[in-house]
Amino acid sequence: MDYFKNKAAEWDSPIKIEMAEKFIAELLKNQIPTRDNKILDYGCGTGLVGMELSKITRDVIYLDSSESMIEILKKKLDAQKDWGRTIIQGEIFAYNQRDIDIITTLMALHHIEDIDGVLNHITQNILKSSGVIVIGDLTEEDGSFHNGDPVPHKGFNTEELTAKLNKAGLEVINSYTYNTMVKGDKKFDQFIMVAKKSN
Ligand SMILES: C[S@@+](CC[C@H](N)C(=O)[O-])C[C@H]1O[C@@H](n2cnc3c(N)ncnc32)[C@H](O)[C@@H]1O
Repeated sequence: MDYFKNKAAEWDSPIKIEMAEKFIAELLKNQIPTRDNKILDYGCGTGLVGMELSKITRDVIYLDSSESMIEILKKKLDAQKDWGRTIIQGEIFAYNQRDIDIITTLMALHHIEDIDGVLNHITQNILKSSGVIVIGDLTEEDGSFHNGDPVPHKGFNTEELTAKLNKAGLEVINSYTYNTMVKGDKKFDQFIMVAKKSN
């Protein structure tokens, strides 16, 4: 089931755009991509992060499992006459080139069931030696962020996520809360985590 089917058309709201901008600003404090870096934006959605990063770096790969989100992304890239980008609609296991310098992933990981499997795949088949993953996601919450919808993870305990990254061969080099969102009468923190492939 595509959880984002009915969300894609309205995704690029001021709130989501601001969320992406804040993540990118934080990412750039930690990891400045070079023009030659190859970036994979995992759970890219409509491209709010990837399209901004494509202004800095030549090679951005967009990957998302949602047909509806990818459809919007394609329309946006077409409108900018930005053709020739690699767009993968599917799971991360579809990518096996081990040529990525930076993986970015904003608010996607909590939708992924098999975090251990994905992290192992990232280390073994996606990141180059010394490649980096930059995660922006929710810290542990009570499920109200998705209004009780059953998503695989109600945010993350960053210590537990750090242990998972380490186990997969990724050394966490920075991790902290960078944003607090207000939804109704609740507050939700977002963390950024930067981890480097250890060998
Ligand atoms: C909350 S949205 C974030 C989209 C985008 N990163 C942004 O910040 O605007 C989560 C995205 O993760 C994608 N996603 C969920 N599960 C996925 C999976 N197993 N593989 C790839 N993408 C997935 C969804 O389709 C959705 O586009």
